[in-house]
Amino acid sequence: MKKHLCYTAAVILAAVSCNQNPKLPAYLDDNSPIEERVEDLLSRLTVEEKVAMTHAQSKFSSPGVPRLGIPDIWCTDGPHGIRTDVLWDEWNQAGCTNDSCTAFPALTALAATWNEELAGLYGESIGEEASFRGKTVLLGPGVNINRTPLNGRTFEYMGEDPYLASRMVVPYVQGVQKNGVAACVKHYALNNQEANRHTTNVHVDDRTLYEIYLPAFKAAVQEGGAWSIMGSYNLYDGQWNCHNQRMLCDILKGEWGFDGVVISDWGGVHNTDQAVKQGLDLEYGSWTNGLTMGRSDAYSLYYLADRYLQGIQDGTYGTEELDDKVRRILRLQYRTNLSSERSRIAKFTCPEHYAAARRIGAESIVLLKNDNILPLNLETAKKVLVVGENAVKMMTVGGGSSSLKVKHEISPLQGLQERLEGIAEVSWERGYVGDVTGNYNGVSTGQDLSESRSAEQLIADAVAAAKESDYVIFIGGLNKGHHQDSEGADRRQYGLPYGQDAVIEALAEANPNLIVVNMSGNAVAMPWVDKVPAIMQDWYLGSEHGRSLADVLTGDVNPSGKLPMTFATTLEDGPLKSEKQYPGVDEGTRRAFDGNDNVKILDEYYTEGIYVGYRWFQKQNVAVTFPFGHGLSYTTFDYGQAKAPKAMKSGKSIKVCVPVTNTGSLAGAEVVQLYVSDPECSVDKPVRELKGFKKVFLQPGETATVEFTVDEAALSYFDAEKHQWVAEKGEYKLEIGASSEDIRTSVSFELK
Ligand code: BGC
Repeated sequence: MKKHLCYTAAVILAAVSCNQNPKLPAYLDDNSPIEERVEDLLSRLTVEEKVAMTHAQSKFSSPGVPRLGIPDIWCTDGPHGIRTDVLWDEWNQAGCTNDSCTAFPALTALAATWNEELAGLYGESIGEEASFRGKTVLLGPGVNINRTPLNGRTFEYMGEDPYLASRMVVPYVQGVQKNGVAACVKHYALNNQEANRHTTNVHVDDRTLYEIYLPAFKAAVQEGGAWSIMGSYNLYDGQWNCHNQRMLCDILKGEWGFDGVVISDWGGVHNTDQAVKQGLDLEYGSWTNGLTMGRSDAYSLYYLADRYLQGIQDGTYGTEELDDKVRRILRLQYRTNLSSERSRIAKFTCPEHYAAARRIGAESIVLLKNDNILPLNLETAKKVLVVGENAVKMMTVGGGSSSLKVKHEISPLQGLQERLEGIAEVSWERGYVGDVTGNYNGVSTGQDLSESRSAEQLIADAVAAAKESDYVIFIGGLNKGHHQDSEGADRRQYGLPYGQDAVIEALAEANPNLIVVNMSGNAVAMPWVDKVPAIMQDWYLGSEHGRSLADVLTGDVNPSGKLPMTFATTLEDGPLKSEKQYPGVDEGTRRAFDGNDNVKILDEYYTEGIYVGYRWFQKQNVAVTFPFGHGLSYTTFDYGQAKAPKAMKSGKSIKVCVPVTNTGSLAGAEVVQLYVSDPECSVDKPVRELKGFKKVFLQPGETATVEFTVDEAALSYFDAEKHQWVAEKGEYKLEIGASSEDIRTSVSFELK
């Protein structure tokens, strides 16, 4: 039974043999409170053992203490599936044959479901896979706010709104941890771009920090109860975030009372003194002072390794910080790999997980536009032409650390062919050449995407086939290649790459029944929006991608996704206008970095403040292509009049209700969104801010009364001077609708 006891059989046997009536020491006694067990175990460790526990011993593990039955900690990426095992000290896959996982939809897709229950299902499912693979810590979820659509890692995060990201991250974390696997929420914080991610020093005012960039992390910690968090690569206010006094000590561990482990991002530690004193607990992935990245097994050179021990031995450091770090690590272990309650439900690539991935995927797809062309008419459709590289390209491989090795990935083309078998002939034309690579750290898609035709010929071939078809479904967008939706670099352009706009325009002329499916983790420009009758926003949906997409295109599933980010018309319309804002400027700031004490730092200023995403576009009154929260259905919904009490007393809450009716002929789901607007505020505020949402499933003709609770937190702004949240007395307007721009009903009340 208890894993810990197995590890420590020798210890117990020793106790039994010298004592006829052994009383279990606290650290072994499941009935003792965790804190007692931690203290007992801590008191038995030597300084050398403790120091060893604070840094990695391999790419993804840090050591336990075998003589006391403390197992190693094993981390895994995250956040969309369990990463393949890599070699001990290499990034390349180890070549195991038992680690091909289920790929779940990317976190942008999860956010687009606006369904908290699905976030729980996601967390639970991926937690079961992590548990099956014997992992202690899952490196995810990510909740950095989408500040620029150029950020290469937006696909791993939960959109542009702090409220939406907060609501979705909590059940994910809880679901993972139900399985005795620690979630590691990343990347804390202000890691909103990949360009210069190691050297960007963010300057942001406190109101913006607390209102926009911290809420999802706070919710993950305080409501989700996250057991670990990952410091980000960038700097904030002149200190690297893996050892940042304000971020880690003052806010995370101080204000929020975080009792878990701060894990560095891989290679995010740069200084022993700060790593000891400024909030870091566990160091991973360092590139070791003065050595090349390729130096093998240099773990003793880590910032928290030999030089930390040396510093303790020569009196530079006391042991107080060390004990705090190890206490946190042991606490995490009693919650995970030393827990007697660790779930026995460890499942991997099972039908339930594929079903979860398919359901989340289908619920995440956003129907952006539909001039009565979707769902596909299966009575009349005989020839369906699919165009585009993304219809066939495997997307689970690539993109950086979230890259996976999967047992299967159903492509959009396969999904459609499977669903339309015996109904219509489904053929494919490439249309354009995008990214033909298919390898990541030794995992290969095995696809040959080489192409000899010219761009003109590819378009001509697609157009000729389009003219002969009942429907044309273009499936393109971005991919997981460098400078696309991928770690380590940002996108170079907001528009679609590889000349796809020209392909879409040519197809629109060739066939009026064109459906454009944009697959990406980020907003893109859609200059052809008025020429195309139907547009769907698809994301990276993992193993069951093609089935989720076919479900929605055919109407087996009525679309109910809503955009978790604004689709601006052009990049220039957005809030980032200068290099100071993005990607940062050289102001002569220098810092010590991995043994080089003169590294150029780029300073970046978040001068747009709280005006991120829809908050910016609405304040500036700039029209967008598709607003935050937008998403259509194959049915229609009617909103009745919202009702709320006339007044709310300070410190209390009120309920606001709105009847919503399915007025079409198909069952479907609507995400009813509640925005707060403060017309009388004394400080500058956004036009409206999301403060509630509910997804309701309705049969044709059915009405549901959707109820929201509004409390002072929903009305508050962060007063930086007082360092507290403030809800001013006076009138507030509650606006309820189908998107941030499609408000259907509103009601006002007074805060007294
Ligand atoms: C990424 C993290 C990831 C880690 C381990 C880093 O480069 O930023 O998100 O968890 O590598 O692969």
